[in-house]
Amino acid sequence: MKISIIGTGHVGSAIAFAATINPLAAELLLINRNLAKAEGEAIDLANASALQNSNMRIWAGEIADSAGSEILIFTASVPYGSPTRKRTDLVADNYAILKEWLPRLAEVSPDAILIMVSNPVDALTYAAIQLTGYPAERVIGTGTLLDSVRYRALLSAELGIHSDDIRAYILGEHGDTQFAAHSLAMTGGERFYPSDMSEKLFRQTVSMGYDVSSLKGHTSYGIALATMLIVDSIVYDLKHTMPVSVLIEDFLGVSDVCLSLPAVIGRAGVTRVLRPTLSEDEQGAFRRSADAVRANIEAMPS
Ligand code: LAC
Repeated sequence: MKISIIGTGHVGSAIAFAATINPLAAELLLINRNLAKAEGEAIDLANASALQNSNMRIWAGEIADSAGSEILIFTASVPYGSPTRKRTDLVADNYAILKEWLPRLAEVSPDAILIMVSNPVDALTYAAIQLTGYPAERVIGTGTLLDSVRYRALLSAELGIHSDDIRAYILGEHGDTQFAAHSLAMTGGERFYPSDMSEKLFRQTVSMGYDVSSLKGHTSYGIALATMLIVDSIVYDLKHTMPVSVLIEDFLGVSDVCLSLPAVIGRAGVTRVLRPTLSEDEQGAFRRSADAVRANIEAMPS
């Protein structure tokens, strides 16, 4: 298994560190516009790897070196510039980066599964499908996986129940229009909705990315381990269900846009997109999220 990480900023290097601690590939390649930065990360991580009882090859290189990757993890992005800048504000600049890199990456790794991490992740996942020509099931955006993890962690503290045992999804856009599918949420078969508590924790979830960014300048560790959850499910063909950004085809009248729904992830990529039974309010929220992402897609220069 060969994994290539494109972009070794805060997020790409946090993913690379997580992959060093949990070495599930024979080879980990780091690519960055500034090759020296990728080389420095690779050497540092190889040092860490020597303490890990692992012989994974960690190295830095160019696009050509990524040939034959089974998994591409795309994190390259312009900096946010300011913590109040929204994910959607990055769309034009980051689309330009995708346009430059993705066709060439896909050409040398025609069979890879592409995990999109860069923001705005939904619009860029959609663009990535077009730019790589990969079938949609091989392009996965990290989407609302991290938001769902954040929400479950808050619920876990409130309910005193392990977050793995809480079935609760944040769906839609990884952005301001995301929504909690409260009507599906339960633990041990018991519903904890409707309650003021779940609404309050949802609001905390939506702002958590901004909160972390304004405190430390960026977010990295949460998104890194959320990405590794996807990688793990691909490498070991686990068929875990997780909310990720996928191409939506005819769900609640929504098609041809990328948004998060619970999807099954395995060695072939997305093997199934589930179609949850949402309440009327949630259906409206899903459609509003689709409209927001579509507007963001339209803001991409051609
Ligand atoms: C966050 C970034 C990944 O929410 O958007 O942490």
